[in-house]
Amino acid sequence: MSATGRSTAMTPPRVTAAKGRTPLVCLTAYTTPMARLADAHCDVVLVGDSVGMVLHGLPSTLGVTLDMMVMHGKAVRRGLQFALMVVDMPFGSYEESPAQAYRSAARLMAETGCGAVKLEGGEIMAETIAFLTRRGIPVMAHVGLTPQAVNAFGGYALQGSGNDGERIRRDAAAVSEAGAFAVVLEKIPEPLARRITQEIAVPTIGIGASPACDGQILVTEDLLGLFGDFRPKFVKRYAELGGQAEQAIAAYAQEVRARHFPAPDHVFGDAPATGVADNA
Ligand code: KIV
Repeated sequence: MSATGRSTAMTPPRVTAAKGRTPLVCLTAYTTPMARLADAHCDVVLVGDSVGMVLHGLPSTLGVTLDMMVMHGKAVRRGLQFALMVVDMPFGSYEESPAQAYRSAARLMAETGCGAVKLEGGEIMAETIAFLTRRGIPVMAHVGLTPQAVNAFGGYALQGSGNDGERIRRDAAAVSEAGAFAVVLEKIPEPLARRITQEIAVPTIGIGASPACDGQILVTEDLLGLFGDFRPKFVKRYAELGGQAEQAIAAYAQEVRARHFPAPDHVFGDAPATGVADNA
């Protein structure tokens, strides 16, 4: 039984059945310890390709490889019991053809044990989504701001303003009709996200979208406040762990230099209570 009282694992059909009910709680994780923390509270844990920027220091998600997703997926799987694990298909691993997407998705599922994959793109990916879902691979879609298209968009700006909203509506409808079990809506105007949520048959998972979405997702490191200078409008910080970690490291450095750490409590056998002088 999890902290939220769950005793059965989440599956793609259960996610779809949550449409219009209690909002789905979704977070990213890239490691076993973070997956364990999220599992107790989340319906869906996404091994996002944001791992490239968050853990590997890459400038965008474009340098993330299938091997990286497999490695992080395996680590996350070890930390989950209840939440549905979804793994992102990285840039270049699925866009060429449905067959290429199938090979990549099958590898992710077989090697990581995930329950579903996520890919970016709307109408253009509908054929691929139908190909995968008909062959037993549940797909979460992702429309609006799709970070793998950062170069085409010319940055990470809000998508779907004004008349461009029609494009995002068509994208969401196309992926839903193609068989996606849920759709991430990223960084689009709130009224548009609300409207799409009413229009499509499967749950919408918002990030920078709307409280009306059927679920919400954030990058866990963002909500924990691990990056001091990264403050996008759509992130609410529920903690300031970056600042606390910095203070802890500074205190450690100061105590090591002053020979106050390790103290007698931290060593084995008898040791003098006071520090040893330099060059002693
Ligand atoms: O890669 C990622 O973390 C994502 C979510 C933020 C939706 O795609």
